[in-house]
Amino acid sequence: MLNRTIVSSETSHYDDIQQIVQSEKWFTQPLVVLVLGASGDLAKKKTYPALYDLWQQSLLPRQTVIWGFARTRWNTQQLRHHLRRSMAEHASIDRFLDLCFYRHGKDYGDKSAISSIFQSCTIIHNLLIYLAIPPQVFTDATLALKQVLSQNRISGFVRIVLEKPFGHDTISCRKLLDSLKEQEWKESELYRMDHYLGKEMVQNILMLRYNNPWLQHIWNKDVIQSVHILFKEPFGTEGRGGYFDSIGIVRDICQNHLLQILTLIAMQLPEQLTSAAIRDAKVKVLKSMPVLQPRDCLLGQYEGYSDDPTIADKDTRTPTYVCVRSFVNAPTWEGVPFVLEAGKALNERLCEARLFFRGNGTSALVLRLQPQPAIFLSTNMKRPGFSMSPIHTHMGIEYGEHCIVPEAYTRLLLDVLRGEQASFVRDDELVAAWELFTPLLKSIEMRSPIKYQPGMDGPHERENFLRSMEVGKPWSPPRASL
Ligand code: NDP
Ligand code: BG6
Repeated sequence: MLNRTIVSSETSHYDDIQQIVQSEKWFTQPLVVLVLGASGDLAKKKTYPALYDLWQQSLLPRQTVIWGFARTRWNTQQLRHHLRRSMAEHASIDRFLDLCFYRHGKDYGDKSAISSIFQSCTIIHNLLIYLAIPPQVFTDATLALKQVLSQNRISGFVRIVLEKPFGHDTISCRKLLDSLKEQEWKESELYRMDHYLGKEMVQNILMLRYNNPWLQHIWNKDVIQSVHILFKEPFGTEGRGGYFDSIGIVRDICQNHLLQILTLIAMQLPEQLTSAAIRDAKVKVLKSMPVLQPRDCLLGQYEGYSDDPTIADKDTRTPTYVCVRSFVNAPTWEGVPFVLEAGKALNERLCEARLFFRGNGTSALVLRLQPQPAIFLSTNMKRPGFSMSPIHTHMGIEYGEHCIVPEAYTRLLLDVLRGEQASFVRDDELVAAWELFTPLLKSIEMRSPIKYQPGMDGPHERENFLRSMEVGKPWSPPRASL
């Protein structure tokens, strides 16, 4: 190892932001948060913990009330009990739970139940609505909300967080977008969440590029030979098989999380990093990409996938692994393959963007998102001593264990409260993303994925496939030593 800088932070990452946020107007105004689907998995694992995190760091207004709504016939005490069990490790959880209330309804279009929530709030100034519900009930919920809100005077903002998947293909995505428009929701009120955009290293991509002008000299086809964006998870569907089987790995990870990373790497840097300029530049990348080709796609499914009791179709062809090549038809990237690879039940948890330099296929700039954020240059040098042979090594910056970065959901929820849309997916961006993937998704419906053993790094064909896609192989330092 040549050079290692540990980024750590003695002070809390919240110190700077607290001062900024607490001087903003919305922070002094009463806030109501409404979580639809409060009984669900996402609400328990992500939404409430992120709200807790914000509250604990004094980033929620003093007058905040958090309402949960779902069909499950709980009362407030039952919601609190449910959250206390799942968030037991959080200190001062009971004081946070005092802000949380619950009401159930017959469905997500139940206007009188939703209305009764608003009637019980003495003041509603700003309203944040989080849709932690399956997409098939999105529009029922937004319609009911619109109608209920038209009868309540809200003097501040109304903002809605929508979870992925936003559509199943181009047509269904457009349909969802159209129904939100017909219901007269404005784009500025809609925050389409892709939580990868809230990850520390993803936020760092534009910062790195913007603040290091020298990078512009290597950030192009003359120096970069290929870009490989890789996601690996060491577990399978784990009870989410029912949901996963209807969408598959391409929709679950590639079409959103990995594609978002691609756009941030490939986009032209705007003069200023405003929300509009960033999203315009990302759309431009998507529109310059040719539709993905089935011949450039390798699919896999891990052995035992359909044993998941929540998967009904035991002969399912849903892929749990995908590797697909794409291109960006812009002068900067002409001929450079961008390869997106994602898999479940693989050998490790890892997510990296690897930018390979032209030459021997081992030198690369690697941006590691997880398990622990890191940036390193995988490179070659002389073996120390008499030897004149080269060795692979790296120069790296890692975020040490003591460097606490906010959870993606915490960061993104704060962005919503602050009206900052740069890290949310705009309507035209979403359509462009679906247009790229829809033909491929249709064409692979009938294709049988190649089986692989859980705990491998993908199907056996992976190595050859990557080579044929002209992707290199960086020397990666062992996780523990970086
Ligand atoms: P759940 O299946 O847990 O659903 C959330 C709640 O919605 C349930 O508690 C249930 O509440 C209600 N619900 C479930 N199915 C239906 C249905 N068919 N009709 C009406 N209501 C229903 O989902 P998650 O919490 O896992 O996910 C919520 C959203 O977030 C989804 O869009 C999902 O794709 C997305 N998402 C989830 C992630 C996760 O890690 N869980 C990660 C990324 C995105 P009740 O019966 O009480 O009404
Ligand atoms: C979600 C997918 O969007 O991202 C899951 O639906 C996946 O299947 C998850 O496990 C991975 O997120 P993270 O933040 O744990 O890498």
